[in-house]
Amino acid sequence: MKGLVLSGGKGTRLRPLTYTGPKQLVPVANKPVLFYALEDLVEAGVTEIGIVISPETGDQVKQTTGDGSQFGARITYILQAQPLGIAHGIKVAEEFLAGEPFILFLGDNFIRGGIVPQVEAFRTQAMDAQIILYEMQDPSSMGVAVLNSEGRVERVVEKPKQFISPFAVIGIYMFGASVFDAVNNIKPSARGELEITDTIQYLVDKGLNVRAHKLTDEWVDTGRIGDMLEANRLVLEVMEKKNEGTVENSVLEGRVVLEEGARVINSKIRGPAIIGKRTVVENAFVGPYTAIHHDCEIRNCEIEHSIVLENSCLEELHTRIADSLIGRNVNIHRAEGPTKTIRLMLGDFSQVGI
Ligand code: G1P
Repeated sequence: MKGLVLSGGKGTRLRPLTYTGPKQLVPVANKPVLFYALEDLVEAGVTEIGIVISPETGDQVKQTTGDGSQFGARITYILQAQPLGIAHGIKVAEEFLAGEPFILFLGDNFIRGGIVPQVEAFRTQAMDAQIILYEMQDPSSMGVAVLNSEGRVERVVEKPKQFISPFAVIGIYMFGASVFDAVNNIKPSARGELEITDTIQYLVDKGLNVRAHKLTDEWVDTGRIGDMLEANRLVLEVMEKKNEGTVENSVLEGRVVLEEGARVINSKIRGPAIIGKRTVVENAFVGPYTAIHHDCEIRNCEIEHSIVLENSCLEELHTRIADSLIGRNVNIHRAEGPTKTIRLMLGDFSQVGI
């Protein structure tokens, strides 16, 4: 069985971060979200993996992910020249997949608990496709599945305007060779894409055996800031504490991970939290559910429930930062001048809450 991971797309909902990097490389607990997908596949015994990349961000994905040996996998990169949909991603990978059954994993989907039982079921039971469902109050921004009274998949609709079922179809799918007939026959949707939901509906309409697995652990589509923070929370919650850095005159409470060379001086860190390589936290408070990436400086300030990307500096702030996603090479410091003045230099599509 092969793996196919989609890592293209524009990531418009995560601007401005996605101006300088693909959304699949935004870190969750200091590790690109894409890496969790690759680790899940390898854990389920799938080591022959194709990654579909876009012309805009493909090189960054290649550089970060490499030949796959760091995951115990072999990675082949497949270029999708235009973002024409998930099912189009399968089409461009047809040669790589060579008629073998495969797992399609959207590179911005995060699932806690991995995919071992689902892959096992797909391997051992005769089925043409398997989808994974996640029960939500409002799944209207996802693909949604309607099941019949025996639990078989009856209908799959992309982002339905009206409530038809509580089951979102998550971005991890398993297909046999019959999927190629589907992706080569469906037509682009109103948004101009070959939809994965239309692909699944095509298989259902042909009378093929499409099964659904209901997920009991957590799943997040990390497309927006709130979703990134949620995925971050889910990982930090179950991380083992570890100290590969140095601590001077400071208090570490609960699950705290200090990566290699991290320095904590005159500070308090209340876990779950992770402090990246060579990052310095000095005279500061870092609260629960915070991930600070490598080579950052956090001095004389307070931060909680936030993600800070690499090489950023937060200094001398007299207010607590919370619920925030701060990009790479960002500098936030106390402005000179009248106390009620805020001086900002923000990129396009930045969001600030004051
Ligand atoms: C895509 C799929 C949708 C699926 C979702 C999961 O949505 O089209 O069916 O439920 O991924 O993350 P999109 O990210 O294109 O809005």
